[in-house]
Parts: sequence; C-alpha cells; structure tokens
Amino acid sequence: MPSDTISVTAARNGLRGRICVPGDKSISHRVALLGTMAHGRMQVRNYLCSEDCLNTLRAMQQLGATVIPGDSPQNFTLIGTGMHPKAPQHDIDCGNSGTGMRLMAGMLAALPFDSKMFGDASLCSRPMKRIIEPLSRMGAEIHACGSKPGCAPLQIHGKKLTPIHYDLPMASAQVKSAVLLAGMMLPGATSVHQPAITRDHTERLFAHFSIPCTTSQDGLDIVVNGPASPVAKDITIPSDISSASFWLVAGSIVPGSEIYLQNVGLNPTRDAIIHVLRRMGADIEIINQVEEGEPYGDIIVRYNAHLHGTVVEPQEIPNLIDEIPILAVAAAFAQGETHIRNAAELRVKESDRISTTVTNLRAMGACVEEYEDGMVITGGIPLHGATMDSFGDHRIAMGFLVAGLNSAGETTLLHCDSINTSYPGFEAQMRSLIV
Ligand code: S3P
Repeated sequence: MPSDTISVTAARNGLRGRICVPGDKSISHRVALLGTMAHGRMQVRNYLCSEDCLNTLRAMQQLGATVIPGDSPQNFTLIGTGMHPKAPQHDIDCGNSGTGMRLMAGMLAALPFDSKMFGDASLCSRPMKRIIEPLSRMGAEIHACGSKPGCAPLQIHGKKLTPIHYDLPMASAQVKSAVLLAGMMLPGATSVHQPAITRDHTERLFAHFSIPCTTSQDGLDIVVNGPASPVAKDITIPSDISSASFWLVAGSIVPGSEIYLQNVGLNPTRDAIIHVLRRMGADIEIINQVEEGEPYGDIIVRYNAHLHGTVVEPQEIPNLIDEIPILAVAAAFAQGETHIRNAAELRVKESDRISTTVTNLRAMGACVEEYEDGMVITGGIPLHGATMDSFGDHRIAMGFLVAGLNSAGETTLLHCDSINTSYPGFEAQMRSLIV
C-alpha cells in the first residue's frame, strides 16, 4: 500500500478527547507577508507549519525576512524588512497554495524588482486572471506564462502602481487581499467593494500592524491608505476553524462522541459552518470565548442522533466555502435534503470540489444530485466504505476519512499527502480520538 494511502473503519465506541488543531492557514500566510514588510521584530506563536504556509514563509525569507526559531516549529521570531524587501534570488515556489500565490502577487507587483512564482499542477490550473485584472488596472505588469491561459507560473515585473477603486466581480478574500496588499505600498487610497462579506483577516491584521484601513458599516467596502509603515507586534494565531470543522462533523455523526477543541478561531466571517451545523441539529457548545484581534474559544461537540437537512443561504457560502466538502458529508448523515447552491467557486479550488465531493459521496452510497453551482444531498441512507481518490485535495481526503468513521466496512483514501498542505498531524489526531 503506498505510504500516502489512509484507511479507516467505523469508530464503534465513538470519538472522544481533547485536541488542539493547528493554526489558521489564512492568518498564517498573512502574518508572514505583513511581518516581512513590518518595521521591527515580533514573536509569532502557533504559525501553521503546513506545506502551504511554510512555502510562503520561505518566500518571505527570500525577500529578506529573518526567522529565528523558537521553542517549537510553530513559534518563532520574525524580523521584518521595514518596507524594504530585497529581490528574490530564486523563483518562488507556492506549492499547492492559491492564497500564497494570489496574496504575494499583490505585494510583489508593487515592489521595485522582478520575481517569478510557480506551483504544483493543481495550482497551475487555477485562475489567476482574477488578480491580474485589478492589479493590471493599478499599472502592474504580470505575465501568466502557464500552459493553460491565465494560469501560473506568474512572471512579475514590479513597479510603482497607482491606487484604484475595484468592484470585485466575485466574493473572494484572496482577490480583495491582493488589491489591498498592493494598495498599502502606494501613496493614496485604494478601495474595494465586495459583493458579499468575505473573510476579513487582512483587514484585522492591518489594524494589528497599525496600517490605516477602514471598513464600511455593512462590511462591503474597504479602504487602505498608503504608503503604510507597518509596525511589528507579537501575535498568537488561533486554531483553524476549517480544520476544526472535520471534528465538528465527526463528533456530530459518530455515535457516542464528545470532542473538545481548544482555541479555535471564531471570526464571524468564517464561522458559518457552526451556524449551519447547529441549524441541522448539531450539539455544538462554545466556551471561554475571548477576542485578541481575532475572536477564538473552545468548542465542545457531542453526537446528536437527529441531524436533519437544511438550505445553505447564498450569503453563507463565502463564510464556509472551504467547509463544503465536510458539510456535504454531514448532510449525507442528516435526514432529508440539504441544498448547497450558489457555490460555483468550488469548481476552481484545489480540485473541482463539486465534482470530487459528489463522486466520493456516490462511491459510499449516498444520494446526491450535482448542479453547476453546487449539490443537493438526500441524507439518511447508511454509507458503506469504498476506495476513493482524494484528487490531490486535502479537504477531500480529510472529509471522506471522516465519513468512513461511521460507515460499514473499510474506507480507503488514496493520495493523502495533500493533507500536509493544511493539516499536518491529521491522521494522528484522528486515531487519538478513536475510543
Ligand atoms: C482564502 C480565501 C478563500 C478560501 C481559501 C483561503 C484566504 O479563497 O477558499 O482557502 O485566505 O483569503 P477565495 O478568495 O478564492 O474565495
């Protein structure tokens, strides 16, 4: 059996225990970028040491950031360049990470040197025009030189840009952040309007680093005033709610479960998975909630035999976009229909997550209808184990291993190496929870 194949069988006695899932991926990328531009040094605690975020950190070291190791790989001192990064000596490897590549593109386009970013086959098939378009309007020179039109590798000729107002055509925090990160480098006000509220980690971190940024009351309009002079300040990154969501669903569908998750990020632009699971009947309790730049708290999830289907509202989609594969698994265990529509963005994630989720749900015996923009799942049919591909997609691999924890027979996921892009240690934590 290849070493990146993982098999599970039903956890007959439930999942029980207390775990701390790794640090937030979105926040880790942004801390590396902004800490590199900042003046001074900061302690970074609970950085996500996954392949995606380590690629971003290595890229920032190429730009001149200094990383001094701390007592564990997740904790280190980051010394910034005070807005004077240097040209990278080598092409920048973004691995599998759309966030890394799109956010760095915004920054690199406004810096006075040339750079080139590349990634793996999945990343080189994902659309980059969405960031090239607004950045080009600011005067950026970015050439998408991949074999697929509009795709990576990206060759960037950095130069002085001009501020713009940009109306985002899609609800994307990556596009929003690429424009704002370019905007913070230049004199004047750069603004964006988003069609729906997307994750606001960039804006919160702007405040953390003393970068002038305002958001309208309805959350849809954001303005950054440059040129910024970011100031380094210590930070502790909360655990990733997207990683925690695998346990929120596992605890909800596996009889006898009770799982305690520590210090999970509870940013209201990311927590729709909790609202939707509760609406489906899930027993999710939040305690010890605090706010330090980002809200976070402890979550206790207990099995509930009476999950039922729901309709995911259009405005909820951007706030649980990464959780849809695992939500679809929950829906397969809930009585009645769950409607997940208005989610066409899923087709351009690490895999086409509508197609890959539907394929694997069907392989396990679930009843699911596929639409161009989502799926409708009729839950309540007992699932059976199967051998499935994870399609090089970390969230598909983890989502269907969780499904296997309450299915008949053995569930095997192929090509699980991808899990390391966001959740190193997933398999060990899963095994530690099985009673
Ligand atoms: C992210 C934004 C989302 C999300 C991705 C992380 C971010 O992508 O799917 O995993 O950190 O800004 P889009 O901006 O493409 O929706």
